[in-house]
Amino acid sequence: MNLDFLKRITGGLFLLTTEFNGIKNGCIINNCMEVSTNPSCISISVMKNSYTNELIEKSKKFAISILNKDVSSEMVKKFELFSGRKNDKFQNISTVMDKNNVPYVTKNVSTVISANVISKFDLGTHTLFIAQVIDINDINNSKPITYDEYQKNVVLKEKNKASSQHIIGWKCRRCGYVHIGEILPNNFICPLCGRGKDDFDPIFKEEIEN
Ligand SMILES: Cc1cc2nc3c(=O)[nH]c(=O)nc-3n(C[C@H](O)[C@H](O)[C@H](O)COP(=O)(O)O)c2cc1C
Repeated sequence: MNLDFLKRITGGLFLLTTEFNGIKNGCIINNCMEVSTNPSCISISVMKNSYTNELIEKSKKFAISILNKDVSSEMVKKFELFSGRKNDKFQNISTVMDKNNVPYVTKNVSTVISANVISKFDLGTHTLFIAQVIDINDINNSKPITYDEYQKNVVLKEKNKASSQHIIGWKCRRCGYVHIGEILPNNFICPLCGRGKDDFDPIFKEEIEN
C-alpha cells in the first residue's frame, strides 16, 4: 500500500488556534472539512502529541483561519516547526480575539471560523474533533490556498533554498517526527506514521539560531 496516493485527496491549509485559561497556541493543519449543515459542523484532525491538541481537549474551542495564496513559508514555519510548549508562537504577530476569546491572525487569511467542540474520536496518532460553528469572519475576498499549491509554490521554494543554507534535520509534517542529519535518504520511511521523504520539511541551522 503506497500512502503517497493519499495526497490525491485534495484539501487546504489552515492555522488552527485555541486558548485555555489565558494560554494561547496554534499550529498548521491541512485537514478541515464541513461535515454537517444543520447544525453547521466542521471536523479537524490533530496530532495527540501536539500542544494544540492538549489545549483543545481542555478548552473545547478553536478557530480555523483559512490561509490564502499569499501565505509565506515563514508564517507556516512559525506555527509548524516548533511546539508551543516551549515558545510563544504569537510573539511579534498581531492577533484579533474571536467570540470565544480565541486569537486568530488576519494576515494572509481569507476567512476565520470559530467553533465549539461537541464530539471527539481517538484515532491513534490523531484526535478527530467535531465542532459546531458559532461564528464566521470574512477577512477579505482572497482565494484559499490548496494543499497542492502549498506543496508546489511554498515547499518547493524552500527546498531550493537548501543549497544556500545548512540543513540539520528533517521534520515529518504528518506526525511531527524529527530525523536529525543533513541527508534524508530517498527511501526514508517515517518510523512513526509510515510516510515517505516528500512529507518531510528541512530544518535549517539558520532558523534554529534566529
Ligand atoms: C503542511 C502541514 C500540514 C500539517 N497538518 C497537520 C494536521 O493536519 N494535524 C496536525 O495535528 N498537525 C499537522 N501539522 C503539524 C503541526 O503543525 C506541527 O506538529 C506543530 O509543531 C504542532 O505544534 P504544537 O505542539 O504547538 O501544537 C502540519 C504541518 C504542516 C507543515
